[in-house]
Amino acid sequence: MRSFSGSMVAMLLCTTAAHAAPSLPAGSPDKQAAALEAQMTDAERVRLLYSDFARPDRTGEPLSPGAVGSASFTPPIPRLGIPALQETDASLGVAWVDGFRKDGATALPSGMSLAATWNPDFAYRGSAMIAQEARAKGFNVLLAGGVNLTREPRNGRNFEYLGEDPLLAGTLAGETIRAIQDSHMISTVKHFAVNPQETGRHIVNSVIAEPAARDSDLLAFRIAMDRGQPGAVMCSYNRYNGPHACQSDFLLNGVLKGDWRYPGFVMSDWGAVRSIDDLRTGLDRESGDHYDARPYFRQDLAKAIAADPALKIRVRDASRRILRSMIASGLFDHPPHIHPIDTAADNAIAQNAGAAGIVLLKNDGVLPLAKSAKRIAVIGGYANIGVMSGGGSSQVAPEGGPALRLAVQGGRDMMVQPSSPLTALKARLNSDSHVTYDAGLSPTAAAATAKNADVVIVFATQWTTESLDAGDLNLPQGQDALIAAVAAANPKTIVVLETGGPVLMPWLDKVAAVAEAWYPGARGGEAIAGMLVGDTEPTGRLPITFPQSLDQLPRPLVDDTPDPAREPGSQSHDLKPFDVNYNIEGSDVGYRWYDRKQLKPLFPFGFGLSYTRFAYSDMHIKGGKTLTIDFSVKNIGERSGSDVPQLYVTDRAGTAGKRLIGWGNVSLAPGQSRKVTVVVDPKLLADWSSPDKGWKVRAGAYRVELGASSQNVQMSASAAVTSSVLR
Ligand code: BGC
Repeated sequence: MRSFSGSMVAMLLCTTAAHAAPSLPAGSPDKQAAALEAQMTDAERVRLLYSDFARPDRTGEPLSPGAVGSASFTPPIPRLGIPALQETDASLGVAWVDGFRKDGATALPSGMSLAATWNPDFAYRGSAMIAQEARAKGFNVLLAGGVNLTREPRNGRNFEYLGEDPLLAGTLAGETIRAIQDSHMISTVKHFAVNPQETGRHIVNSVIAEPAARDSDLLAFRIAMDRGQPGAVMCSYNRYNGPHACQSDFLLNGVLKGDWRYPGFVMSDWGAVRSIDDLRTGLDRESGDHYDARPYFRQDLAKAIAADPALKIRVRDASRRILRSMIASGLFDHPPHIHPIDTAADNAIAQNAGAAGIVLLKNDGVLPLAKSAKRIAVIGGYANIGVMSGGGSSQVAPEGGPALRLAVQGGRDMMVQPSSPLTALKARLNSDSHVTYDAGLSPTAAAATAKNADVVIVFATQWTTESLDAGDLNLPQGQDALIAAVAAANPKTIVVLETGGPVLMPWLDKVAAVAEAWYPGARGGEAIAGMLVGDTEPTGRLPITFPQSLDQLPRPLVDDTPDPAREPGSQSHDLKPFDVNYNIEGSDVGYRWYDRKQLKPLFPFGFGLSYTRFAYSDMHIKGGKTLTIDFSVKNIGERSGSDVPQLYVTDRAGTAGKRLIGWGNVSLAPGQSRKVTVVVDPKLLADWSSPDKGWKVRAGAYRVELGASSQNVQMSASAAVTSSVLR
């Protein structure tokens, strides 16, 4: 249990206030927060409940004194030794703020890439790096911990999230949060809840039955929060079964603060507050109120609580919750100190993560490239200057700025991280290798370049961004035609994808290899080149299903407002609301939908090739209150490599359906083997039971399959599980 010391409070007060130090009892953060809150005036309480949008380039107003400047700022209360709240986006790195200061930082690979590592260590190490950079810039609240499940593969924000499975996403988000909290900062798990598309994001109503939500999206949040203990939760823009999520008594008071006994605070997303009454339904803090129709939690709230005792009780509770998270997260005892960041060390972390997230989808023997390869043609994808990144509030750029910045649409910028795969590849090849580059603007010219090469590497990019969904899953800007033309000219064509999520591959049969590198971060070019020449192994596995076609999806079209005044994107407050029916797939998100419908995807969840081969044996299963499974993995190839053997439950006491229940992360030298043991979280064996108000595990036989993807079964075993209800 963390707490802040009396001496630190005294010191802060000596330096910042003329008043005597408040006397605080020793004890838990709850007790300390309650004692501190009791000493606040109403004006101080209200001041803690809203934040200034700290972007003078957007507001046209000067920064408040003391603000670092980014997503938001709340000033300190020196009289009580309460530090300022300095908030920044930080899902993939400290977010780029330009216009008033160019805030460079190290970009981790995208969340989707991180999820493709299936490795909690990468999540922890990467987020610890981000947290250190954020502290070095003076921040103490990170808007990081996105765990929305991919129900919509065209969602413009999929790159920020962690794929389609509640266990995988929840586990990695939990490690992200834990790393931030361990760095004495508040992490903000977001966006609560069921916020899978950007189209009409302020008006769209996510329609979903309670058990389906509890067994999928809400389960992912619960797993992440149990593991990471975030100080804050950000409610999302969308409506949830009627009311907006930030006005949802069910989500905020019911699920979060009621059922889950969450002790921290709920902050709104930026521009998601609609009334001071939002406090009554569980919201605690209005974020960056510049984006709200009016600043509700300022004078309005101050006036309202003078005449409304019930609202005042709620304001006191919200203040106490914020203080509690500040204390428990270490904000009082460990203030950030501004200093330069260690770019080289942090880039190395980004490079390792980027390499580990690359998923090799096809390899007809062309990879790894021989270092002595003679004539190599590199085509397209800005490979001569860098790698793609995703747009919106999570955008990160290095200190020197991006390699390329294009204003694409309505203030959304596409940025290329300055890490050139072409340069990195050349540096890894023998000096007599001849590498040519063609920008890929003309399929005919690219095909001519390809014809004269021994091997061709086409880089294909799909830029995606917050506030805008992709219209389809085709590669944009004629890149499918480019790849087809190149592959027709030279069958030894390798495609490296830099995409936000899944794409269709009409040219798949014509190419020799495909690697999915996602948005690979600050040293993405190095990470890709290392994988191409075999310096590193492709160890990634898909955290999301790649469909064959849009008609395999639960919703072949993205639902949209019927309003004729619509403009593409999210700035939609005044448009006609519309529903998206998530009951179509219910809790069967992603691979579970394909399993239920017996659809064969292009590439299944969990899939990824290696440069070596693995064999599984000796699977044992033990039942009881949960399942405990062990098995052995052996590297039966000629090279070292890492594997992600996966366990899926496929029959739960007579109920069919596939669910990931665990996996192993094993790195093995040739001939080496290792035993993996998985103790299953029983919530994954359960179904939400409304009468029991809990996840109910039914007694009976449970069948588990072991394989290398959701559609690869190598062995199976069954055991009996006893009944229980989990809350
Ligand atoms: C995004 C949040 C982000 C916030 C602050 C919003 O538009 O939805 O994820 O944290 O802006 O930048």
